[in-house]
Amino acid sequence: MKVLVTGVTGQLGYDTVEYLRSQKVECLGTSSSNFDLSDAGATQKFLAEYQPDAVIHCAAYTNVNQAETDKERCYAVNVEGTKNIAMSCRRLGAKLVYISTEYIFDGEGEQYYEPEDAAFPLGVYGRTKYEGELAVKELMEQYFIVRISWAFGKNGNNFVKTMLRLGAERSEVRVVQDQIGSPTYTKDVAPLLADMIATNQYGVYHATNEGVCSWAEFTKEIFRQAGLPAKVIPIPSSEYPTPARRPKNSRLSKVCLDRAGFHRLPAWQDALSRYLEEISADRAGK
Ligand SMILES: NC(=O)c1ccc[n+]([C@@H]2O[C@H](COP(=O)([O-])OP(=O)(O)OC[C@H]3O[C@@H](n4cnc5c(N)ncnc54)[C@H](OP(=O)(O)O)[C@@H]3O)[C@@H](O)[C@H]2O)c1
Repeated sequence: MKVLVTGVTGQLGYDTVEYLRSQKVECLGTSSSNFDLSDAGATQKFLAEYQPDAVIHCAAYTNVNQAETDKERCYAVNVEGTKNIAMSCRRLGAKLVYISTEYIFDGEGEQYYEPEDAAFPLGVYGRTKYEGELAVKELMEQYFIVRISWAFGKNGNNFVKTMLRLGAERSEVRVVQDQIGSPTYTKDVAPLLADMIATNQYGVYHATNEGVCSWAEFTKEIFRQAGLPAKVIPIPSSEYPTPARRPKNSRLSKVCLDRAGFHRLPAWQDALSRYLEEISADRAGK
């Protein structure tokens, strides 16, 4: 099987390519230096030349706050870009994995969202990712839509890296406590995506590390595991206004994985511990 992975210069795309290579799967990771997703002709040409059997589409416009004022670009990449990928996959008969987000939900209440629950995105980024999902469903039959949340991986900036920096610089850090979700190590998602494309269990899935926490609880655990003495001061979202509103409830049900016979990801605390080891080994040049 020949696999094309978009977004290789990002967190999930990078780990997915690394994993596929470790399994000796023929694959190619791409970024905007290979082709711009929003350019239909360039996307079609690139995919037609590579002739993948499956595409794992991790690339996206991911700057959630900037998207609020950069709507057209965000739409061009996340909606038009996804359509371009889906149309090429359809033409080539390739399977498609489209990575989406819990930001398609409004986050009201405390329930765990099932994949088929109604979407009500709160911001531009969430809306474009949801429209990307709709395009995939409309254009394709052989697709997996995989929603992840609160991602951290070695190849990119993320919440864990920010908190490690702040925790080293400050004696206390104020962190939002009324948004609840599941941190997700991109290195744990990669094997699941590889498992999926080896099957015909198409559909919409949620894939996060197991367990839920608030951003403040996540930060406490980051500091505890990293041995940082900084104190976490839990604050409500109202004290940390951002250009884009975030859902307060990002709990995602993973029963969909069980039903299809896919494995669930390990607990987020375990994922964090392996991640801290990975990035500290990298810093030490091991
Ligand atoms: N990060 C999160 O917390 C999170 C949470 C839920 C869902 N997700 C979803 O998970 C997926 C992976 O996220 P991530 O955090 O790994 O992303 P990321 O680190 O921000 O990387 C984004 C990738 O997309 C590529 N890209 C952006 N615009 C492009 C364009 N016009 N043409 C071609 N490539 C383009 C970038 O390539 P260049 O370097 O060339 O720009 C980069 O490789 C995304 O679909 C995202 O929506 C992320």
